[in-house]
Amino acid sequence: MPDAEGLKEAKQFYTDTPQKTEGFFLKGSNAYDWGLKNRLARIFNPETGKTVMLAFDHGYFQGPTTGLERIDISIMPLVPYADTLMLTRGILRTIIPSSVTKPIVVRASGGSSILKELSNEEIAVDIEDAIRLNVCAMAVQVFIGGEYEKQSVINMTRMVDLGTRYGIPTLAVTAVGKQMARDARYFRLATRICAELGAHYIKTYYVDEGFETVTAACPVPIVIAGGKKIPELDALKMAYNAIQQGASGVDMGRNIFQSEAPVAMIQAVRAVVHENETPEKAYDLYQTLKNEMGK
Ligand code: 5RP
Repeated sequence: MPDAEGLKEAKQFYTDTPQKTEGFFLKGSNAYDWGLKNRLARIFNPETGKTVMLAFDHGYFQGPTTGLERIDISIMPLVPYADTLMLTRGILRTIIPSSVTKPIVVRASGGSSILKELSNEEIAVDIEDAIRLNVCAMAVQVFIGGEYEKQSVINMTRMVDLGTRYGIPTLAVTAVGKQMARDARYFRLATRICAELGAHYIKTYYVDEGFETVTAACPVPIVIAGGKKIPELDALKMAYNAIQQGASGVDMGRNIFQSEAPVAMIQAVRAVVHENETPEKAYDLYQTLKNEMGK
């Protein structure tokens, strides 16, 4: 039985030290509840404020994409180098061991294939299943300017409502509408609509002209998709420019898993995102690692 009298004497209240009230490190995210912030702090590194998300959810509408034919073989070696994994619940349950502790962003919209109108999506994951899977965010495609624009926007707002109830952030993924040019004006429109309607962070594409106006006008963090495979140095330049112009990270797929040396490439991307390494130096790192690995 502890001695109650003795314990009382040993107490230290540090009455001359005010309790610190820290702001949250992530853009626009200070007003959320603890659980939601905690999930965001697992996705975005609190030290750098950035994330390297590895996206391999492409199969949800286009089947076994080049480089993703065997996720167990091609993606598992990349997992240690990713901050966050973005994938479908099907691949999560069937391929990714539950001992993996990387934060999961689950693809939560779907319903159309490359054979049909892509914007005709609905919410494709129940919030209860997202909780069961212990995910850190849910990703919903938003097709501004697309045929099913309104439906996709409402998918997102519904997910925001459901996720906010349980402390799970929503990642709005801006897909390029057929009627709209892929330029800063379009992405300002698309990202701002998503943020105004409650998305906690947004994935968009990098554009060479005026990308800094896209990040400036968007009150929540932006991560960039990699897009189609381009030469490694060009992909590193794109990531570098995006970060320097206000992006909070990348959500990159094909430019990593379709690279000649994916394990080397993801480490080079990390250097650009977390260490502000120049694309040229990151490319040197890529070449060195690639040569060390013998591929
Ligand atoms: C598919 C997606 C992908 O996750 C996204 O496009 C990122 O992959 P990539 O870098 O290959 O473009 O959202 O709809």
